[in-house]
Order: sequence, then C-alpha cells, then structure tokens
Amino acid sequence: YPLHKPEQQDWTFAGLFGHYDKGQLQRGLKVYTEVCSACHSMELVAFRTLEHGLGYSDAQVKAFAANYEVQDGPNGDGEMFTRKAVPSDHFPSPFPNKEAAAAANNGAAPPDFSLIAKARGIERGFPQFVFDIFWPYQEGGPDYIHALLTGYQEPPEGVQVAEGTHYNPYFVSASALAMAKPLSDDQVTYDDGAPQTVDQYARDVSAFLMWAAEPHLEDRKRTGFMVMVFLLIFTGLIYLTKKSVYASKD
Ligand code: HEM
Repeated sequence: YPLHKPEQQDWTFAGLFGHYDKGQLQRGLKVYTEVCSACHSMELVAFRTLEHGLGYSDAQVKAFAANYEVQDGPNGDGEMFTRKAVPSDHFPSPFPNKEAAAAANNGAAPPDFSLIAKARGIERGFPQFVFDIFWPYQEGGPDYIHALLTGYQEPPEGVQVAEGTHYNPYFVSASALAMAKPLSDDQVTYDDGAPQTVDQYARDVSAFLMWAAEPHLEDRKRTGFMVMVFLLIFTGLIYLTKKSVYASKD
C-alpha cells in the first residue's frame, strides 16, 4: 500500500535551544481532554506535572484533576471504590480494561498516550542513524501524529477498506485504521485567538503529546549544551597541558 511519509513540521521544541510553547501545550491539553481522552488514556502522566510543565497554578491543577474519577482501594472492607482524582493521580483510562476498550472500537484498543510521541516516528535505517549522533531528529513522533490526524481522505479508486476502518495513508500499520477522523474545524473552543482548525488542533495536541512523552526535554537540551561547552573548554585545557608537559627543554 502507498504509505505516505509525514511532512516535517516546525516545532518550537526542535533544535539545540528548543523549548515548549506553554500556550500551545495548554491548547493541546484542551484538545486531548475534550476529544482524545474519550478513548485514549495517559496512564504514566500525573496531573501534578501539569503545574510545572504547562504553567498552571496548584488550585487549577486540583480543579482539573477533580473532573476525573479514579479507581482506588481496597478499603477496610476489602472493596474497590471510585473517588475524585487528586493531583498525584494519573490520567485514567476511559475503559475498565483492554478488552472493553477493543470491544468499543471495532477490535482495536486505542493505545495509551503516555509515550506515543516517542513510539512512532521516522524509521531511520543505516546510514541515517549515524547522523543522529550529530544531529538527532526527535520530532518524528509529533510529525507523524500531526500527519495522521490531518491525513484522513477518501480511499483511491480500487482500494477496499475493511468495514469499521478508515482510510489514512499515513497510518504505519495498514492503509486504514479503527480510529475515525477525530477532529473537525471549530470542534474545540480556543480562548487565545489561535485558529480553530483541524491543522491547528493536530499541531497543538501533537506538541502536547511530545511534552507528555518527554517532559524534561528543555532541561536535557540545556544540560547537553553545557556538556558540549565544558568539553570544548576541557579540550583546550588538555591541549595546553600537553603542550606544557611535553615542551622541549632546550
Ligand atoms: C489510534 C491519536 C482520538 C480511537 C491512535 C493513534 C494515535 C491516535 C496517534 C496510533 C496510531 C498508530 O498506531 O500509529 C489520537 C488523537 C486523538 C484521538 C490525537 C484526539 C485528537 C480518538 C478517539 C477515539 C480513538 C476519540 C475513539 C472514538 C482510536 C483507536 C485506535 C487509535 C481505536 C487504534 C487504531 C488501530 O490500531 O486501527 N489514535 N486519537 N482515537 N485511536 Fe485515536
């Protein structure tokens, strides 16, 4: 089948000094909450991380978490119970288990979102991975998610799509997937004036999923840069030491 390669997008978190745009992440969270969370969990991400990561206050995170119900227990009587979520809880699954998730979605369980932005991306065979050492390309995941969400189209002439699946030439595993086109224009209301289009929603939710999978990206880039600066200075010092130790005596 003709698999389409995701187009590379401009992301604020790309490059040596990449950083997350908190406004974009907040919009992405809104798209996730209002649309994707009906099917996709994010079980490795705790609500409390929204405070530092997306720039919300303690009270805002508490209020946000309280919209969710989570399973807890067993209590004193050995019974499980549900309660309102608190900031230390994680984004729960909308389904009680994988079987129920698959049954509600034509046999394909919606994958958990915690690491999805790192689980998909550009497949890099030899020799590209050699270049990755010098110029790593980390943004293949969000490129892919953006391409998938904006890539639904009518199947070409002669292509049969299995019942309950939807043609999308960007989907890596087949030419159609069990997820119907989840986004349409004006579906989610933005209060910061960003365009309410499928393209913008896809961009924002992809950035948000990158943050979910790689919340320490900015710190890591900063540390990496400082390490390079240190190594450069250290190389200079070693060179000077070498010159002085092996200096000719006569
Ligand atoms: C799969 C994103 C909303 C049901 C996926 C995948 C991604 C994704 C990245 C993985 C594709 C792959 O395996 O390569 C999103 C986003 C959403 C969203 C960003 C919100 C904007 C929904 C909704 C539903 C849903 C609302 C249910 C009504 C599924 C299912 C699969 C899937 C069943 C598995 C498809 C298959 O393997 O055939 N989604 N999704 N998704 N999603 Fe969604």
